[in-house]
Amino acid sequence: MKIAIMGAMPEEIEPLLSKVTNIRKSEYAANTYYQAEYAGKEIVIAYSKIGKVFAALTATILIEKFKCDRLLFSGVAGAIDPDLDIGDLVIADGLCQHDLDITAFGHPHGFVPEGEVCIPTDPYFRKIAKEIAVKKGLPLKEGIIATGDQFVANVERKNWISKTFDAHALEMEGASVAVVCNALDIPFFILRAISDSADMDAGFDFDKFLEGSAKVSADFILEMVESIEQ
Ligand code: ADE
Repeated sequence: MKIAIMGAMPEEIEPLLSKVTNIRKSEYAANTYYQAEYAGKEIVIAYSKIGKVFAALTATILIEKFKCDRLLFSGVAGAIDPDLDIGDLVIADGLCQHDLDITAFGHPHGFVPEGEVCIPTDPYFRKIAKEIAVKKGLPLKEGIIATGDQFVANVERKNWISKTFDAHALEMEGASVAVVCNALDIPFFILRAISDSADMDAGFDFDKFLEGSAKVSADFILEMVESIEQ
């Protein structure tokens, strides 16, 4: 077993790099990959840079070049569900692309022929995440996460995404990682901690809470790595 752990930004992987051992750094396709060990398991850590295209590229390289056979994503998200506060954890049961639009041809939002609107995450990873949350007494929400190449700082757009996809949170990478892992048959999991509410204050909140929320997510992911057995 070799587990990929991805983030989108340096802040999302730094808390991981500070805890893993035997780090070996390599450069590939204009990015840095960190092979390391944690809890007796081989892992490879990278941040992709922001957005769906960079995330798809990094996920593909982690699988095809570094031979990872599991992928966990750790990072931050904007809340849609009003019950989600800053720092709360949310796991995706499925991911959709809110900015994928060929509705002009009669298709639903987020759909392209031969694809699916929502790609489900691995049930085993969701199960161990919920067990850890119960053990630690941490609130953990599960729901749809919507992805798009857009930082959402607008209540109308957020409400539209909520209504159209029944999404609980939004971010800019998860669904593209889902497309890659689904196509390559790699079990994957997307975890996010809330950094903002995707409203007019989102830019300010994001800057203020990115580091703290990214650490909440990264610490939880490492707990999961300890628990993974299959
Ligand atoms: N990631 C964290 N907050 C976000 C937001 N408001 N929009 C898009 N991605 C995000």
